[in-house]
Amino acid sequence: MAVPHLIRRGVSGGSPLHPLRGLLFASQEFGQRSLSSETGDAAAQLKGAREEVKQLLKATSCHPILVRLGWHDSGTYDKNITEWPKCGGANGSLRFEIELKHGANAGLVNALKLIQPIKDKYSGVTYADLFQLSSATAIEEAGGPKIPMVYGRVDVAAPEQCPPEGRLPAAGPPSPAEHLREVFYRMGLNDKEIVALSGAHTLGRARPERSGWGKPETKYTKNGPGAPGGQSWTSQWLKFDNSYFKDVKERRDEDLLVLPTDAVLFEDSSFKFYAEKYAVDQDAFFSDYAEAHAKLSNLGAKFDPPKGFSLN
Ligand code: HEM
Repeated sequence: MAVPHLIRRGVSGGSPLHPLRGLLFASQEFGQRSLSSETGDAAAQLKGAREEVKQLLKATSCHPILVRLGWHDSGTYDKNITEWPKCGGANGSLRFEIELKHGANAGLVNALKLIQPIKDKYSGVTYADLFQLSSATAIEEAGGPKIPMVYGRVDVAAPEQCPPEGRLPAAGPPSPAEHLREVFYRMGLNDKEIVALSGAHTLGRARPERSGWGKPETKYTKNGPGAPGGQSWTSQWLKFDNSYFKDVKERRDEDLLVLPTDAVLFEDSSFKFYAEKYAVDQDAFFSDYAEAHAKLSNLGAKFDPPKGFSLN
C-alpha cells in the first residue's frame, strides 16, 4: 500500500511528540513542502532504517533479540485503560532505563545498543516505530511471512510515562493457561493469537543469566552465531518456520527448551487446536502469525497520521 496523502492541518495540528514535527515547521515556513511530503520523508527515513536493520541482522544474527524488543515494548498494553500512554503498548517507552530494568526485560539493553546508531542516523524515525520495524524485518529476513505493518507511531516523551512492571507474561506461573489468558486477553488478544505468537520462539534462546530459564549452552548454541550459549526451542534457531510446534509437541531432544507456557499449548484443549494445526501446516501458521504480529505491533500505539501509513 502506498503512503497516503494527508489532509492539510494547521501548524499546531498533530502530536508535538513526533520528531518529524520540527522538520515540518521548518519546511512549512519556507513554503516548499506540503504535509504529504512530511509523510513521504517519514517513509523514506523508515526505508533507510529498514536497510540498515537488514545489514545489522546480516552482521550480527540478532534477529531473535530484535523480535523480543518489539514484543516487550508493545506487550505492556492494557485495553482497559483508555488514556494514552497510561495504557502502555508500542510507544517506545522501553528505551528508558527504568523499563529496561524490569525483570522481564533482562538483556534487552543489548538490543537497544544495537539499533541506537540507526536511530541516531534516522532521527525522524521514532523509537516506537524503530522497535516494531526491527522486529518485523527480523521475522521476514529469517524466512518468516511478510507482516502487514503500519508506521507513524508516536513516542512517549519521558520515563514517567513508562508502564508499571509486571504486565508481561511469566514463563513458569502456577497455572500457565490461566496466566497466558489473563495477560494476553488484557492486551485484547485471543487464543489463536496466543498460540501463533508463541511460535516466535522458533527463533532465539533463553539464557539463565537473563531470564533464569534454559541451559548455559547446548549443542545447538555453543558455537553461536552471535554470542554463544543459552538454550533454544529449535535446532535452527535463526530460521523462522513451524519447527517450534513440531519440537514442543515431540519433545525430541533434551537440548531443546520447553517452557511451561510452551508446553501448555499442547495441553489446553483450545490452545491445542491451533498448536496441532501449526505443527502440520506451516502456511496456516505463517498466515495467522503475520496477522497476529501486526496486531501486536499496533497495541496502544498512537499514530501520526492517525491511521499510520505503510511502506512498500
Ligand atoms: C507466551 C508467553 C511468553 C513467555 C512466557 C515468554 C518467555 C520468554 C523467555 C523466558 C525468554 C528467554 C529470554 C532470555 O533468557 O534472554 C524468551 C525469549 C524470546 N521470546 Fe518469548 N515469551 C512469550 C511470548 C513471546 C512472544 C509473543 C514473542 C514474540 C512475538 C516472543 C519472542 C521471543 C524471542 C524471539 C525470544 C528469544 C530472544 C533471544 O534469543 O534473545 N516471546 N521468551
